[in-house]
Amino acid sequence: MGNFLSRFNIHLNTRIDQREVYRIPPHHKCRNCGQGCDPSKSENTCVNAKYTRTGTKDQPAVYRAVVPNNKINWSTSYEYQPVEFTSEKVRTSTKEYVDKDPRDDPKVEIPWNLDDRLCDRRSYHGPYKVVRRVPQNPCGRTGLTGRGHLGHFGPNHAADPIVTRWKRDQNGQIMVHPRTQRQILEFVCILRKDTNEYAIPGGMVEKKEKVTDTLQREFHEETLNFPDLDERSKHNLLATIKDVFENGGIRIYCGYVDDPRNTDNSWMETTAYNFHDGNNEHLALIEVHGGSDASKAFWHDLGSETPLYASHADFLRKVADIHNAHW
Ligand code: BGC
Repeated sequence: MGNFLSRFNIHLNTRIDQREVYRIPPHHKCRNCGQGCDPSKSENTCVNAKYTRTGTKDQPAVYRAVVPNNKINWSTSYEYQPVEFTSEKVRTSTKEYVDKDPRDDPKVEIPWNLDDRLCDRRSYHGPYKVVRRVPQNPCGRTGLTGRGHLGHFGPNHAADPIVTRWKRDQNGQIMVHPRTQRQILEFVCILRKDTNEYAIPGGMVEKKEKVTDTLQREFHEETLNFPDLDERSKHNLLATIKDVFENGGIRIYCGYVDDPRNTDNSWMETTAYNFHDGNNEHLALIEVHGGSDASKAFWHDLGSETPLYASHADFLRKVADIHNAHW
């Protein structure tokens, strides 16, 4: 197995669950409007309104209190009037894996900053503060309190598999981008059903699940939707994915993400891994077809030209750097 994988430039010995602190990515998308506002400006750069819309395409509008960029930090004093919001679906959920609100019931005790086996509540950035019985977003004010659309207070963990190959012409030659003169990568991209944005096919770590398993499960659910495939081909396809995903990959990022669902008490953290097939030997040969939360899945050129969901462009830029490819 070792030789098989090293032939494909897959780094062995990469441990997936190892906790390392990564730099928190810059906010390209304004916390207020979700657009690409200039985060270096101290004023509200996006809107004049006191409250701005948040949420996703299929969910009712929720308005966040506007937080000027120079007031995001908790240590800056600010007359702050956030909006409290936890979606109906989250509030009324009876699933064991969805948190109860400790502010509603003094008997609810949640093991903050610990892995209670059902759910890993540790942040990749170290212990977070718990204020008035609920965690405080380590990146600052978001204009919303409560859980919004997220099931957990504190970190909500996701995993993002970035599957790449070289873009080749009909003769199998790797194509070079005319602007940067660098070779072009392609990655498996999806169109998210909720926001209609291009994204990496990632998803939430489920109850008791390991990040390694989430990476495989999400890739499978969102990009390998072939209901008519015969049993043998299905088996071979899954065996390839399992081999590659379980034996390596390059860790690209692990930590907080600037996700539109984040609130002052609940936020997204992800682990992004790159699985690259430089020689067209395994992953590069698979066809993809959207399923689950993805309305489409396709191989797409990797480059700064494509706007992507949340912090996904940061991850892809790093992948391009690692392979010395076009960005
Ligand atoms: C997505 C991941 C993403 C994470 C944080 C999840 O819903 O599926 O791809 O990285 O949210 O934004």
